[in-house]
Amino acid sequence: MQCVHAPIRCFIHRAAFRWRRAACSAAHTSRAPSAASPSSSSSAYPPVQEPERPAVHTLVPGPRSLELARELQEVSEARTVQFFHDPLRSYGNYVADVDGNVLLDAFCFIASLPLGYNHPNMLRAAQSEAWLPHLAQRPALGYSAPPEWVQLLRTKILSVAPQGLDMVQMTCGCGASAVENALKAAFIRKRAIERGNDAEPTVEELASCMHNAEPGSANSMCAASFEHGFHGRLFGSLSATRSKPIHKVDVPAFANWPALPFPVTEKDEERCLEVADRVLSDRRVAALIVEPILSEGGDLHASPAFFRQLREITRRHQVALICDEVQTGVGATGRFWAHEHWSEGVSDRAAAVDAAAELAPDMVTFAKKMQASGFYFKPEYLPRQAYRIFSTWSGDPLRALQASVIIDTVCADRLVERVEDVGTYLLQALQQSRRAGMSKIRGRGTFIAFDMPTAAARDKLIADVRNRGVVIGASGERTVRLRPALVFERKHADILLEELQYALPE
Ligand SMILES: Cc1ncc(COP(=O)(O)O)c(C=O)c1O
Repeated sequence: MQCVHAPIRCFIHRAAFRWRRAACSAAHTSRAPSAASPSSSSSAYPPVQEPERPAVHTLVPGPRSLELARELQEVSEARTVQFFHDPLRSYGNYVADVDGNVLLDAFCFIASLPLGYNHPNMLRAAQSEAWLPHLAQRPALGYSAPPEWVQLLRTKILSVAPQGLDMVQMTCGCGASAVENALKAAFIRKRAIERGNDAEPTVEELASCMHNAEPGSANSMCAASFEHGFHGRLFGSLSATRSKPIHKVDVPAFANWPALPFPVTEKDEERCLEVADRVLSDRRVAALIVEPILSEGGDLHASPAFFRQLREITRRHQVALICDEVQTGVGATGRFWAHEHWSEGVSDRAAAVDAAAELAPDMVTFAKKMQASGFYFKPEYLPRQAYRIFSTWSGDPLRALQASVIIDTVCADRLVERVEDVGTYLLQALQQSRRAGMSKIRGRGTFIAFDMPTAAARDKLIADVRNRGVVIGASGERTVRLRPALVFERKHADILLEELQYALPE
């Protein structure tokens, strides 16, 4: 083992050293000798501690970010890039940018950074022998997996599986790939039940599906989703997505996939459940996909009782309930999975334990903070034939190793409990702060949001706060969302509150 890996490691270390040296000399030579680069000389990697506070010397994006964006736009899409970060100088909750600014990050790569920047556990693990062969090549796991893959899934990825979801399918890395495959699993199971569980597809079905026609292609079947929901931008996931028209326009859609109303208030829940009951009673609905908090749509919440009813309705109509935890999963709401909140309010303790099992969705998708993507599922959703849920890579050992460090660190450092504590502190402070324009301050854990009067006011607030060194994000029409890492502490919350208060009068 040792002699196989040593040369690779040596090569990687030499390459990393050259890269560091190049990065350092670039930092010394290519930056204008202005206030924009005050700390570039101290760019030893990895940084060893968090700064005390943000330090901002230019507007964000600064001149170097703007120049890089201009260059990037010549060869690729750059209009969505907010600023260019400097991974060599970012640490913990603080992201450094290429203009020498250091910002407290409460948005964290669109909610996808669980342990902050350059976490020591991650850097240590990344240098271990176990990672090296997976850096050298990415295997086609469905075709030939390395032996440790079994243990990685069993003892790490499945160690945090939602109750009753004893199997997992890893996908290619993005949330949309997890959603697409979970949707497929729902359709395949629905057709298998209709056909009779042991029956193979008929000759006619096999022939017609090659023309995208019924009965082989289940064109009259559908997946339901909620208005304002977001599930990704690939074809199936995009048909389920209903947050912004610009994501969907011009792209062919599954025209018969129904949209259900999501309750605006608790009073509205009964009406929405009635619609869900009616729509799902149609036997052509194979799946209902829902986020526990509609995130991109503007952090829309419903009560645990609403979700319990949804579970009951989907079970009664034999519709697969897919809980999309791509954004809410991995601790940010004060539970490892946000749907664990659904058993809240079930009065006695024993009933709550039973309810948790009863309430488990049929599938749960993940990506973002897990750094790897896929979906947990009940064993009955494993298709009867192989190759039906498959891709060349079918996951990535490197990303699964990253996920295992995340899971270990979250458990060892009790980060979910920390999120619950910091989130309660931050939410209360925001609610008491009574700043002009802020309304509907809401959240679970540090998964917190509030509304501003208009989109323009929201965007101005985000820009003002960023120019003072704190990164926060937007969602929905006029919502500000906070998505800090799980290592966000009360002292970070205080800085965020201070900057929000500075930007907004009382
Ligand atoms: C709930 C949810 N599902 C799916 C996705 C799609 O994930 P990705 O952008 O990684 O494809 C997102 C992305 O924001 C999401 O929030």
